[in-house]
Amino acid sequence: MAVGQRLKHVVESQQFSRLLLDEIMTRASEMEREPHRAAGRLQGRVMAALFYEPSTRTRLSFEAAMLRLGGSTMGTDNAREFSSAAKGETLEDTIRIVNGYADVIVLRHDEEGAAKRAAAVSEAPVINAGDGRGQHPTQALLDIYTIRAELGRVDGVEIAMVGDLANGRTVRSLTYLLSKYRDVRIWFVAPPQVAMRQDIKDHLDEHRIEWSETEDLDSVLGKVDVVYQTRIQKERFADKPAYQAVKGIYRITAETLEKLGPQAIVMHPLPRVDEIAPEVDADPRAAYFRQARLS
Ligand code: CP
Repeated sequence: MAVGQRLKHVVESQQFSRLLLDEIMTRASEMEREPHRAAGRLQGRVMAALFYEPSTRTRLSFEAAMLRLGGSTMGTDNAREFSSAAKGETLEDTIRIVNGYADVIVLRHDEEGAAKRAAAVSEAPVINAGDGRGQHPTQALLDIYTIRAELGRVDGVEIAMVGDLANGRTVRSLTYLLSKYRDVRIWFVAPPQVAMRQDIKDHLDEHRIEWSETEDLDSVLGKVDVVYQTRIQKERFADKPAYQAVKGIYRITAETLEKLGPQAIVMHPLPRVDEIAPEVDADPRAAYFRQARLS
């Protein structure tokens, strides 16, 4: 299958057209159904994973994908300490050097805009695996794939994004992708301190996507197909009192599930801390571990 539009770097969700999204979803579905057909496709290729922030899913799922496709991987966790960044090397210089060793660079960084800076100096494709409060476009692709797999459609989906929307990069990337679909409706559920930022709201208005804001999760539970719960990102708060003020503000429990539709699902990019009670895991509507498995 020909891909309608080729991307060199994957930096932000705005790069994906609806046509490209449809092609990626179809291709991913084929690979999920018949994984052996893709075996060896990346033989001889090398991926460098440069992770300046912690990761479980993103780092290991990229590595697993590369290995399953016959390629090789190398890289560094905690790159601020274990790469020459510790000696003062700039991100741009590190990327120039890694270009000599790798065919693709997967970058997670703590600064918003880092992936764009890396892409600007890189011959090898750069994949943004999360840049601070910026974006996480490959998580958003997985989220769209999960919605499609769980509900059978993305057009017409009604979704509540819940929690730390100001600091969460996955909700930003997912919103950009959802704006490519028809008749989507989004509820942003957050207290004012961590409300969705204005640039995303402006984007939705420009694309005539219906959205609204509320602090009351219960008021939307009966209306939505998806509850997309997120962690309050402790590491992004300037001080402890600001974090304490919103910590634990939304918690999905068995009682929450009673108000949720029977066909609705609960998603979460993970890791979770305390925002989904363990008792929810056994409910068939808890889709977050299935979501992570698809990555
Ligand atoms: N969802 C996600 O990005 O998880 P990690 O931080 O573990 O990679």
